[in-house]
Amino acid sequence: MTTPHMSRTRVAICCGSGGVGKTTISAALALKWALAGQRVAVLTIDPARRLADSLSIGQIGNTAVRVPIEQLSPQTTGHLDAMMLDAKATFDDLVRRFATSDSAASRILANRYYQFASTRLGGSHEYMAMERLYDLWHNGDYDVVVLDTPPTRNALDFLRAPDRMASLMDEGVLRWLVMPASRSGWRALELGSEVLSRVLKKVMGRGTVSEIAEFFEIFRDLWDGFHARSVEVRSLLRDPMTTFLLVSSPAPAARADALYFLDQLAQKQLPFGGFVVNRTLTPPLPRLDPAVLPAKGPLPPERWDQVLDTIRQARTLRQRLAKAHAEAIAQLRKAGPQQAPCWLVPEQAHDLHDLGGLATITQSLPSLPDIHGQT
Ligand SMILES: Nc1ncnc2c1ncn2[C@@H]1O[C@H](COP(=O)(O)OP(=O)(O)OP(=O)(O)O)[C@@H](O)[C@H]1O
Ligand SMILES: [Mg+2]
Repeated sequence: MTTPHMSRTRVAICCGSGGVGKTTISAALALKWALAGQRVAVLTIDPARRLADSLSIGQIGNTAVRVPIEQLSPQTTGHLDAMMLDAKATFDDLVRRFATSDSAASRILANRYYQFASTRLGGSHEYMAMERLYDLWHNGDYDVVVLDTPPTRNALDFLRAPDRMASLMDEGVLRWLVMPASRSGWRALELGSEVLSRVLKKVMGRGTVSEIAEFFEIFRDLWDGFHARSVEVRSLLRDPMTTFLLVSSPAPAARADALYFLDQLAQKQLPFGGFVVNRTLTPPLPRLDPAVLPAKGPLPPERWDQVLDTIRQARTLRQRLAKAHAEAIAQLRKAGPQQAPCWLVPEQAHDLHDLGGLATITQSLPSLPDIHGQT
């Protein structure tokens, strides 16, 4: 069993609705802090490959992959590791850690019901994300861990995961494992009902029932360890070194999601570090920069007029969008807590799919001291 532990590792969790740029912002924050000399890990629980792509690295999984940030700054003393949650491997590690013996661990890992539970049960993925985060926080290899979450709906599941896991452990793993339709049947099995066990063996086959029974028998030994762990994971989320950043965009739906999420943080007394409003547009420059105009030479005069007209319309549209964005940002600030920090990340002309691209937005993002201690 683990003992409660104080860590110096800071944690920044990026949440927000789908497509607002959580992965991009997580990667850019991690990059910024690593370039500032910190030892940084960025963990994604999104199975999409976006994080690996934007960091210009190949395969990533549970094991850390070093991001070549020296390409951007050869003198840097910090480093950046990226990883993607492998829920099954994380669950297996936990079983090995809490099993009373190697043979008990091997038996449970080989058990088919364990294999089902560890990969397909609702909430197990989110719980393992928290577990992985806890591990990175706990082992002290990093100054800061940045967590990229899936879209809001799942991110909320993810916040609930440690509570859910702790109460499941309290109630007994049985309820958690077993589908509602057959819950009472399995409970009876756990309690050792001979009659029911005989019936089930007839219906499902002796092997199946024995495996389920074996699962409960071995898993019972792990409960204490799992329970203690889920309580610690809960405390990590409320630690003063942890900060939730709400990533949003100027779009009304994203703003509504960010505010909903803010409400959830407040209800759960989790530390809010500020808003990051991504993809904001600023008004065009007051004068047209001649450098952006195409060469007039070969164009007939009427075509040239059309070109100028199109440019003028684009400028007007941009003006309007920038105004709408400024209003949306003002509304978000007003709805959020007073003095809540708000970082604005401009819309870039190109997708941010490599280190160089990410580096273009780092200056708009908070430095570590900016978010540290905001609770
Ligand atoms: N400031 C920006 N300027 C231009 N493009 C951006 C900006 N921020 C993000 N993008 C682009 O938007 C797309 C979505 O970004 P990203 O994958 O980071 O969003 P997400 O919130 O993680 O999405 P999901 O909810 O699906 O995980 C990507 O193609 C990314 O390159
Ligand atoms: Mg993402």
